[in-house]
Amino acid sequence: MPSLTTEIARRRTFAIVSHPDAGKTTLTEKLLLFGGAIVLAGAVKGRKAARHATSDWMALERERGISVTSSVMQFPYGEAVVNLLDTPGHQDFSEDTYRTLTAVDSVLMVIDAAKGVEAQTVKLLEVCRMRNTPIITFVNKLDREGREPLELLDEIERILSISCAPVTWPLGMGQRFRGICRLADETARLMPQGRSERIQEERLLALRDPDLKAVLGDEYERTLQEIELVRGAAPVVDVGAYRGARQSPVFFGSALNNFGVRDLLDAFVAFAPAPLPRPTATRVVAPDEEAFSGFVFKIQANMDPQHRDRMAFVRICSGRYRRGMRLYHVREGREINAANALTFLANERSMADEAYAGDILGLPNHGTIRIGDTFTEGEPLRFTGVPNFAPELFRRVVLRDPLKSKALSRGLEQLTEEGATQLFRPLSGHEMILGALGALQFEVVTYRLRNEYGVEADFEPAPVVAVRWLEADADTLSDLHRRLAGHLAKDAGGALAYLAPSRSHLDLTAERFPKARFHAIREQL
Ligand code: G4P
Repeated sequence: MPSLTTEIARRRTFAIVSHPDAGKTTLTEKLLLFGGAIVLAGAVKGRKAARHATSDWMALERERGISVTSSVMQFPYGEAVVNLLDTPGHQDFSEDTYRTLTAVDSVLMVIDAAKGVEAQTVKLLEVCRMRNTPIITFVNKLDREGREPLELLDEIERILSISCAPVTWPLGMGQRFRGICRLADETARLMPQGRSERIQEERLLALRDPDLKAVLGDEYERTLQEIELVRGAAPVVDVGAYRGARQSPVFFGSALNNFGVRDLLDAFVAFAPAPLPRPTATRVVAPDEEAFSGFVFKIQANMDPQHRDRMAFVRICSGRYRRGMRLYHVREGREINAANALTFLANERSMADEAYAGDILGLPNHGTIRIGDTFTEGEPLRFTGVPNFAPELFRRVVLRDPLKSKALSRGLEQLTEEGATQLFRPLSGHEMILGALGALQFEVVTYRLRNEYGVEADFEPAPVVAVRWLEADADTLSDLHRRLAGHLAKDAGGALAYLAPSRSHLDLTAERFPKARFHAIREQL
């Protein structure tokens, strides 16, 4: 049996963070191509097209099935075993997207060279900053006219408050994009002409090689000067600073043309951290501890509506999983049989014989597992740092058949346990307010309430723009109860939350109650 330490040291578990359309899907596919996990480009993209082509219910169903299989992809690269976790974007942006970032050890940020740092990237990066997650940057679409690379680096540094260390530098841009230069040894790598679904041979030239001058033509002198300037001014990669999330190594390329991806992947497996120690409520767990431990960061419904099975995604934090072993479900205080746990190879799910810290296990379950749950070999650990994020969209639940209110409550409670939406019950009245980060979640809930619980419900706009979890001493709390009566609610876990009807109400309330704390993130209990 391979040594535990060796197996864990070669794991790299990461997610790609980007704004929609920056090229995450294309890059994912190219990483799989270079990792040898797929032979031809097109497989991943085709699925995405199917996913977003129509918005009918069948497509929704399909999407749920597809995202189960593609939400974790494992592939070998050289000596490394890479786990790539999908962060749903577009309309299916949800809390899962944020929470996935709690299960990785590093992220890859993809930026469109023409657009620079965009809104969704900023939001996702906030979660990374909170956790000091190391970030590698890939500036994509250099084959299109974009902004000046220096200007882009400046923007990343300014908006994300992180120092940038370019590893490669583009040779031209748009129509005149010819390749990249590795700054450390001034080696230019030329982009093969003509698009291909396969990996093509790339030509390497020294920066001062006359052949490169011939290739770049008029651009040569300018490029040379720019590279000199960058080498003089920009910091060199410092792996310690990168792992401490103070510096981001930056790569340039064109995912669509498979270009710049190999340098990126090589550097990624060299720089990115192996599984890191993880805090629990009682102690820090080291990845190479013998005993298995892990936590649930995502729960997803299975395809088959006849079975209310759900898949719990467990990030293994220490030790080794072996088929047939029993796992201790800490919150429930009992052992479960994990014989049918799954692992996720690049394009398929398969029964896991073995998995190690850094890997993701899929545990089929009937609803007893919740987000944030810890599994061990017996020690009552509880991993911390798997939070609920304040939803940003709110809808009032309207039941069409009043006789079904019990089924509605049960359905909503169970669906919100999966963690893509959150349920709030205002303290006064009998309303239920559903909160989400992406509008698609409301459609998913409507659909599943109908199909799995036989309940017809509508979601109407609710007079809420933000939610904050409240913490305060007893006096302040009773004051809050008196003065904010109509705006307080309990979340599904029973925690007190303030549903703000407007931004100014939120600001004024925070000012009026300086002793209360208003949290936009709540740790799972
Ligand atoms: P996403 O997952 O981040 O949303 O982005 P995705 O990879 O789907 O890419 C968004 C669009 O950008 C796609 O075009 C894709 O082909 C294109 N793209 C990705 N990388 C590059 C690149 O390096 N250069 C250029 N020029 N384009 C790139 P689309 O027209 O929306 O889709 P499709 O018809 O190409 O599938």
